[in-house]
Amino acid sequence: MTRIILDVDTGTDDAAAIMFAALHTGLELVALTTVNGNVPLDYTTDNTLRIVDFLGLSAPVYAGMPAPLVRPNPTRRPESFPTPSVWGDTLDLPPAHSSPRPAHAVDFLIEYYMGPAGPETILVGLGPLTNIAAALKKQPHLTRRIPALYVMGGGHAAGNVDSAPGSEFNIWVDPHAAAVVFASGIERIALFPLDATHRACVTPADCDALEQAGTPVGQAAARFLRKRIHAYNMVQPLERPDTAPVHDALTVAAIVEPGLVQTEHLYVDVEVIPGLAFGRTMIDVLRRGNQRPNTQVALGADEAAFISLLRRVLGAAQQA
Ligand code: BDR
Ligand code: CA
Repeated sequence: MTRIILDVDTGTDDAAAIMFAALHTGLELVALTTVNGNVPLDYTTDNTLRIVDFLGLSAPVYAGMPAPLVRPNPTRRPESFPTPSVWGDTLDLPPAHSSPRPAHAVDFLIEYYMGPAGPETILVGLGPLTNIAAALKKQPHLTRRIPALYVMGGGHAAGNVDSAPGSEFNIWVDPHAAAVVFASGIERIALFPLDATHRACVTPADCDALEQAGTPVGQAAARFLRKRIHAYNMVQPLERPDTAPVHDALTVAAIVEPGLVQTEHLYVDVEVIPGLAFGRTMIDVLRRGNQRPNTQVALGADEAAFISLLRRVLGAAQQA
């Protein structure tokens, strides 16, 4: 059983990742920390509580940083827009009945990883890296206490930010935080950029299969994934229409099935200078630089194996 802590900016693919983490028998979800990202912190925290309550989880939720470390916050407040985002601002689940724990997520991460269970618990960053960078800055000893850090973010030959087309959203929201993380010296960092996640997409048929499983989780997952396919068709068409990546779920799935992705040990840094490349990950795929590789980077994925695993775990009536 692998212990994990998920740092999330819950939107629909974070929700799929949380479901996967909760239902896969090889994973123990210890806690969740929320961060500003897809939507503001109050929304990502509410969405996370909704999914935790829906799944009946006992894992505590800690709210974290409401804005990036340095740059102005680019996150739109849903209530200031007349029409909801095509991505969805509030998860389509019953309102939460639980609350976040009183401690700040950054203080929780420091206390947990400086404690006895820290070195046995993988940390997974599925949103902007603001919480994780803030914890590393406040307690630098964490670099020796976090046994492995899995990050969904970045891109080499793929981007998804209109104003910086070579950048990826999680890194672009807080590039200064990402730069702190990649330079931190954490021994095992695994990065799951768009180059991998865009090669592991779901289709409407996968949603049908999840729905036909007849379980509450399968039906909720089908709703979330259909929303993603619709949003990609509307605003971010991929080479294959009627498909959508499930970025965060692939990152978690690779913990239990490392063979889902092809990785290379490469040097990664982040552009923090404002401009067209703001927030872009520089991944030295040609190994031209003289910097020591600091990250295992997933540059490919086994779509069939991932989707089969996702459908098995999210379609199961109980822990799969
Ligand atoms: C990442 O950004 C968010 O929209 C998703 O939740 C994912 O973590 C993909 O670029
Ligand atoms: Ca996310």
